[in-house]
Amino acid sequence: MKHSGGALLSSIIIDHTSSKPKNIQIYMEIRDIILSGGLKAGERLPASRTLAEEMSVSRTTVVSAIDRLISEGLVDARSGSGTFVSDVLAKTRPQQVSAEERSDKPQNETAVSAAMMTAIGDFAARDKLPAEPKAFITGLPALEAFPMSQWARLSAKNWRGQRSDVMGYGEPLGLMQLRRAIASHVNASRGIKCDPEQIFITGGAQQAFHLIGSVLLNPRDNVWIENPGAVGARNGFIAAGAHLVPVPIDEEGIAVDEGLRLAPEFKLAFVTPSHQQPLSMVMSLARRFSLLEAAEQAGAWIVEDDYDSEFYFGGQPLPTLKSVDAGGRVIYVGTFSKSLFPALRIGFILSPPGLVTAFEKLFNSFLPGLPTVIQKTVADFMDEGHFATHIRRMRAIYAAKYKTLKEAADLHLDDYLSLQQTQSGLHTVALLSKSLEEAAVVSALKDAGIVVNPLSRYAIAPIKQQGIALGFGAVNPIEIQSGVRRMADVLKAL
Ligand SMILES: Cc1ncc(COP(=O)(O)O)c(C=O)c1O
Repeated sequence: MKHSGGALLSSIIIDHTSSKPKNIQIYMEIRDIILSGGLKAGERLPASRTLAEEMSVSRTTVVSAIDRLISEGLVDARSGSGTFVSDVLAKTRPQQVSAEERSDKPQNETAVSAAMMTAIGDFAARDKLPAEPKAFITGLPALEAFPMSQWARLSAKNWRGQRSDVMGYGEPLGLMQLRRAIASHVNASRGIKCDPEQIFITGGAQQAFHLIGSVLLNPRDNVWIENPGAVGARNGFIAAGAHLVPVPIDEEGIAVDEGLRLAPEFKLAFVTPSHQQPLSMVMSLARRFSLLEAAEQAGAWIVEDDYDSEFYFGGQPLPTLKSVDAGGRVIYVGTFSKSLFPALRIGFILSPPGLVTAFEKLFNSFLPGLPTVIQKTVADFMDEGHFATHIRRMRAIYAAKYKTLKEAADLHLDDYLSLQQTQSGLHTVALLSKSLEEAAVVSALKDAGIVVNPLSRYAIAPIKQQGIALGFGAVNPIEIQSGVRRMADVLKAL
């Protein structure tokens, strides 16, 4: 026997102060009642006139809500006899899952791939990425020093361009003007000769790592990863199915001998030669050559992440690994997250000639192109010389901030930690003295409002160092000094 769902429906309360139209409120409420099983298949809805009276709205409002439910197939109107909850729902109603069950889903082994289980299960989760320049946040450039008015002018000009350029899908491989600008930038500043056709624009370096993994890796292929090393790269390769081989870091960079002992058959090695993430040293020339030779022997590829070496303040920078890559085994990855700002989400892959066709296939098949206006604005910024000027200015700013940090640390923190010498970039690392315990230090600093990244966060196998990564690039000099003093108070109390 069909009965009316009147009692339930009369529990609907309309919010007369809401900006949401009343017909939409009614539609949503009835939909939720039906989907949660409050009204069963075959039950009749009260007449629209009755509902309108109970809810103190016009009949037209109720009819409009019911029409929408009919168009979505949740209820059927049967002429002469009324409106009924659709019979379809008796057979195919989605099972209700409680909030707790829903939040458990990603851990459920059957729900996600083996690669994702590794990513979410085995390694510490990455912290929320930084947005605010607090002491000693890593990963952010000096936002206040960016020439925003210049940028805004170029950006506004580009938004006023041809609508088909501005609003349509972009070039899957990246805007040619930007690919050219990058090719000439890496030639002039990083000593790499390449054609613009070797450059592929990505949504930041982190997307580049994932894409490189998808082009080159079969499930469980060995990937040498610096340990400690970059978290974003690690996750990108895991997502592509890699088996990560943690290779230790010594004072010259990645320990190639140890890599060969752990996994002589490796498919790819990930390195940060210009500024090891997070330990901050530059890879020695000898080590670069032995890495290139090991890759050559194994038929492996090397991913060189050159994320912040524009900001070199230690004299003459060492060449990139790519610039001495005679065998064409190095895939160079760059980003504008530090040299401009991270919200752009623009990075690039510089492919060796042997992989250009594979990357072209991947990008053409799967990627609809990044926003053209953003790419064009970056390209104009470079072509008009603002990029080079900005980098020169920022290099001096970062050098001064590093000096401030170093001097303050020498003065106040000498008993507790040793700041590693860095020659470039926006962050460095401090190794803790033996009496201090990393987790306790990080937690006490956090309580004092000081943000630091523990070294263990970058590691996927035990490491011998205990320390904290300290960002100085985004932090103003006064905050750097006060942060160091507050840090000294905290460490003294431990
Ligand atoms: C080692 C390393 N590489 C690259 C990047 C830049 O990543 P993205 O270009 O995706 O912002 C970061 C960001 O902090 C990083 O730490």
